[in-house]
Amino acid sequence: VSLKPYNTFGIDVSARYFVEINHLQEYVQLLKEQNYSHVPHLFLGGGSNLLLTKDVEALVVKISFVGIEVLDESDDFVWVRAGSGVNWHEFVQYTVDHHWAGLENLSLIPGTVGAAPMQNIGAYGVEIKDTFDHLEAFNLETLAVEQFDTAACQFGYRESFFKHAGKGRYLIASVCFKLAKKPSPQTSYGAIKDVLASKGISNPGIRDVADAVIAIRQSKLPDPKDIGNSGSFFKNPTVSAAEASRLQDEFPGIPHYAVTGSTDIKFPAGWFIEQAGWKGYRKGDAGVHLNQALVLVNYGEASGNEIKELSEQIKASVLAKFGVPLETEVNII
Ligand code: EPU
Repeated sequence: VSLKPYNTFGIDVSARYFVEINHLQEYVQLLKEQNYSHVPHLFLGGGSNLLLTKDVEALVVKISFVGIEVLDESDDFVWVRAGSGVNWHEFVQYTVDHHWAGLENLSLIPGTVGAAPMQNIGAYGVEIKDTFDHLEAFNLETLAVEQFDTAACQFGYRESFFKHAGKGRYLIASVCFKLAKKPSPQTSYGAIKDVLASKGISNPGIRDVADAVIAIRQSKLPDPKDIGNSGSFFKNPTVSAAEASRLQDEFPGIPHYAVTGSTDIKFPAGWFIEQAGWKGYRKGDAGVHLNQALVLVNYGEASGNEIKELSEQIKASVLAKFGVPLETEVNII
């Protein structure tokens, strides 16, 4: 089975076996039958944070659990649960349309609900940990369904328990968010302010914020339907205060951000990559996006290894020029 339609990078590798499951029960049944117990199982959501570099000698399990339901409600909040196969952007738009606030800044992020907690997806001043309530995950060893609250998920910047100690041990089945009935729009990000101002909106509702985010993303991030990509390929590096002053002395005017609760300073990887001369670079069908240097792209027929090689050249070049190691954000398989 070709995995090309199942990864947003559009890499054409094949899976030894492939199944799509609509209910957890179908997977439990599959385990019982033991037809695929001789190969590893690889779970796939929207395939939007993935770089496939070779044929996958595994059973690829595409998770298509659907459904959105309200679990509970108070005067101020609503607890909304979505199946892990629900498309993330469609879920966010559903919550915005129902006037439930908290996810609007996360509009248009590719992928599924189930993949969101894996790396605590975030954009424009908001991360899912801010409104996350709990998730349900199927323990692949004990075959029991377990609940994880925010603390158990150990969220960090593009990090969670499921990328570390929990890696490969769980199938996320559903995620529940605690959303606010009284919105407090987060518009501190410069580009959001600019879009709202250009439309003459001074008192934005969550639909205004969602629309601004959609406009910003469409203007600088490539749509995977047109150009294969997995969003930011690297994380923004965080360095010590001492290392930060060295960078600021050597490269006056370098953009940087404070990290809450720490003296560390975060620097935009896209700036390093652009300054190192990579923005708009293309070799064959592998390239660096013209409008956002942090996004690597597949213009059509690039192989996973070509993209991976390009990412290694970029890492080496940024390290040589700035002394800063970049960490990959995308899962390379
Ligand atoms: N920059 C450049 N050149 C570039 C790109 C960026 O100089 O080509 C510098 C600029 O100084 C710019 C700054 O980097 O002001 C920040 O750029 P941007 O606002 O585009 O965001 P980012 O730091 O590159 C992060 C997230 C994105 C998220 C945006 C907006 C990571 C790894 N990426 O990108 O998330 O949408 O902020 O909040 O933290 C993703 O994770 O896949 C993703 C797209």
